[in-house]
Amino acid sequence: MENFTAYNPTKLHFGKNIVETMHTRVGIYGKKALVIYGKESAKKYGFFEKVTNQLTKANIEFVEFGGIKPNPVIDDVNKAVELCKKEQIDFIVAVGGGSVIDSAKIIAIAYANNEDAWEIMKYKVKTTKSTPIIVVLTLAATGTEMNGAAVVQNHETHEKIGYVNELNYPKESFLDPDFTITVSKENTIYGIADMIAHSLESYFAEGEADLSDRLVAANINEIFEAGPELLKNLENYDLRARILWASTVALNGTLYSGRKSSGDWGVHSIGHVMSYLFDTAHGATLSVTFLAWMKHLKPRIEKRLEKLGYLLTGEEKTADETIKIFESFFKKIGAPTVLEELEICRTDMAAIKKYLIHTKASGMHYKLEEDDYDKILRLM
Ligand code: NZQ
Ligand code: ZN
Repeated sequence: MENFTAYNPTKLHFGKNIVETMHTRVGIYGKKALVIYGKESAKKYGFFEKVTNQLTKANIEFVEFGGIKPNPVIDDVNKAVELCKKEQIDFIVAVGGGSVIDSAKIIAIAYANNEDAWEIMKYKVKTTKSTPIIVVLTLAATGTEMNGAAVVQNHETHEKIGYVNELNYPKESFLDPDFTITVSKENTIYGIADMIAHSLESYFAEGEADLSDRLVAANINEIFEAGPELLKNLENYDLRARILWASTVALNGTLYSGRKSSGDWGVHSIGHVMSYLFDTAHGATLSVTFLAWMKHLKPRIEKRLEKLGYLLTGEEKTADETIKIFESFFKKIGAPTVLEELEICRTDMAAIKKYLIHTKASGMHYKLEEDDYDKILRLM
């Protein structure tokens, strides 16, 4: 087992009507909030109103910033930072999925340190503090509600990158499975692909950590069981709850203690290039890329795949059989498994490769070179 530090300061509140308790918590973070949300869902489904009612009940003034797009952009972050400065807000309430919450994390840190947001994301300036963030999660996928990561893209530098800092952890997150019931079938599928991918990224990080291996398998099995059932019944509270919690657990530190890093992240770095170039939904890039990555990396990860197959099924499995388990699952839930299903053409391969080189896409454990890009792309 590798040396490790376990740290997770987010206070997470989970369950039916849990947002109604928010007014009892938010007062300690100040008197004025920025409420940030996405394009449409927050207002359309009443989440914005429920959240701002809680702020009003706690005598907290608020200003709003809406319109954060999926695959969020640094321009919106910069605009919101200006609003924070103008309005002198004390804390941020993020209502939405990963795109909204990740934007909130970068806004919070840029505003608190009075530094340029992108410079922060490129680790070019020192940060010492952040603005408190309260999360109201509306989509099960990324785990950002209980971790220190944020992913934003920049069209000037042609990158979609992740930024990790322990200052980024939300102070408190409110997760009501009912808030995820309106998520479309398509976005539910992508979320499921993302949480599977996070579990797998953890599994393929460097370091022997037996308990973490078992926890990864347990989380994946939970998703294997609840995911397909949920897709048959999108309004089922218990299934939404199981998938919501599995998504948090997939990336809140539970699955990677005893490893050298939180994951390998090679597959994510390839997925980010596709999201950047084609605005493809994050989870959709991952089901395609993970299958190709496992097939290509098989000689390097054969024993790990065999162990994973055994942990998932209780039976001896070859590496190929383990890959097949994931391929069958993704097909069963309707997640894309080949490039064409992402509406990306084979002729786009050259552009993808160019940006893989530009962003130096690679894993922390399994390093990827140009030759790997070619082979992985061909397997998609
Ligand atoms: O914009 P609105 O109208 O809110 O619609 C969103 C968006 O179109 C919709 N949605 C969200 N909640 C809904 C809902 N629709 C109906 N009912 C609801 N309750 O869903 C669409 C997708 O939202 P988005 O926030 O983009 O999805 P997700 O949560 O999957 O976040 C993806 C982003 O997170 C990053 C990804 O790269 C991507 O940019 N990630 C963040 C990570 C982290 N911080 O730890 C890790 C991940 O690996 C990932 O990279
Ligand atoms: Zn992800």
